[in-house]
Amino acid sequence: NEIKVFCPATIANLSCGFDVLGLCLDNVGDEMIIRKTTEKGVKIVKIEGANLPLETEKNVAGVALLAMLEEVEAEFGFEIEIYKNIKAGSGIGSSAASSAGAVFGANELLGQPFSRKELVKFAMQGEKLASGNAHADNVAPALLGGFTLVRSSTPLDIIKIESPSLLYATVIHPQIELKTSDARSVLKQTVSLKSAITQWGNVGGLIAGLYTQDYELIGRSLHDEIVEPLRSVLIPGFDLVKQAAYEQGALGSGISGSGPSIFALSKGAETAEKVAKAMCAVYDSINLPYEIHVCKV
Ligand code: HSE
Repeated sequence: NEIKVFCPATIANLSCGFDVLGLCLDNVGDEMIIRKTTEKGVKIVKIEGANLPLETEKNVAGVALLAMLEEVEAEFGFEIEIYKNIKAGSGIGSSAASSAGAVFGANELLGQPFSRKELVKFAMQGEKLASGNAHADNVAPALLGGFTLVRSSTPLDIIKIESPSLLYATVIHPQIELKTSDARSVLKQTVSLKSAITQWGNVGGLIAGLYTQDYELIGRSLHDEIVEPLRSVLIPGFDLVKQAAYEQGALGSGISGSGPSIFALSKGAETAEKVAKAMCAVYDSINLPYEIHVCKV
């Protein structure tokens, strides 16, 4: 009658794949308990670790689950306890973790009427509430694991990509909050043909590199000349952190989601740990507190 759900953090965009690429960090995340209740509807009964609204319609988990319940006949209701570890505005998919966790857990209690891919569209409603835009690049990897590509969001077409066996992510979160809606408001609505050509070349290269486990190709493709230049100015020490990651052998580095977290991908755990140390040293040198994660992806 109840389920405990691990709600993983995610890295969206992966440099060149704004709003379409993401990956799951399976050792960083929140926990959620979802319980069946005789009373129908959705109640958020407890939130620990963050100051978030308990009202169902104002909470991303509540909104995502309500969207799901519009499409399925449930004989019972749900109450949700949320234990947040992922900070809001961190760039590693805090709202997506809650939205995805709620629909995943409720789907299990309902006997799995929906596939994991079908759950994405409900979880996206939580993203819409959080950022004003129903993007799937965090909720898709949170629900499916590994890397995901959102080939299309209307209609939804999501492709799961298996991770190359030696690929590791390092993510550093400088302890400032950057709202996705603010980080989206600095973006331009048009791109030049020249930048678009560079970007889709890199997206194709990254996908090909992931499928063929070509780490050099993955590294060459981790570039973003459309979004990163506009957003990186919002992140303290961004260029130094990125440079430190490259100096230690990272394949590539960029903004995690809408920031302020910065990610790097590396071949092998040893390199990922060295990258972590170098990234931390940058923030240590300017006395900026941070959280650091190294994860097999
Ligand atoms: N693709 C989104 C963005 C991810 O970069 O705005 C953040 O939720």
